[in-house]
Amino acid sequence: MPIDKNELRRVMGHFATGVTVITTFRKSGELHGLTANAFTSVSLTPPLVLICVDKKAESYPCFEESGVFNVNILASDQEDISRRFAVSGGNKFEGVSYRLGANGAPILAGTLGYIECKVVSTYEGGDHTIYVGEVQEAETRDAKPLLFFRGGYRMLGD
Ligand SMILES: Cc1cc2nc3c(=O)[nH]c(=O)nc-3n(C[C@H](O)[C@H](O)[C@H](O)COP(=O)(O)O)c2cc1C
Repeated sequence: MPIDKNELRRVMGHFATGVTVITTFRKSGELHGLTANAFTSVSLTPPLVLICVDKKAESYPCFEESGVFNVNILASDQEDISRRFAVSGGNKFEGVSYRLGANGAPILAGTLGYIECKVVSTYEGGDHTIYVGEVQEAETRDAKPLLFFRGGYRMLGD
């Protein structure tokens, strides 16, 4: 019998992750973003990463429409940004500093780094869709990460 979904969420919460905001846009040009930790590197040659997006997310249609996304890796002082982008609806970018990347998707200010991607493959993943992105550009800065562990925000202990 498959595991109960709440139990799976609890168990998966024991895998500590960083926190990202994935940004993209609608065909109409409207900007979208969602907090996500289902993000991982896939390949170095070619340079590939993947994200998993809930089919029920408001931003879900954007990925098909724009064919691009940016991964914004949040810094330890950006919990407020994570909370803001984890709630559907409204203009999440109001009052948030950002610029548009070469691919047209937003790059948030004050992050640990960002990765600009072009969608190259899409896979079914149950109630999520897996988007594999080819990395076009990426940058980092020296700062501490925001972490997520057992349902709560954490910081590095060192
Ligand atoms: C720490 C954290 C990690 C999350 N990871 C993901 C994820 O990997 N994929 C996803 O689709 N939603 C994830 N979510 C939930 C979305 O952020 C949330 O559903 C958001 O409201 C979606 O925004 P939208 O409906 O405006 O697109 C996560 C939320 C939190 C707080």
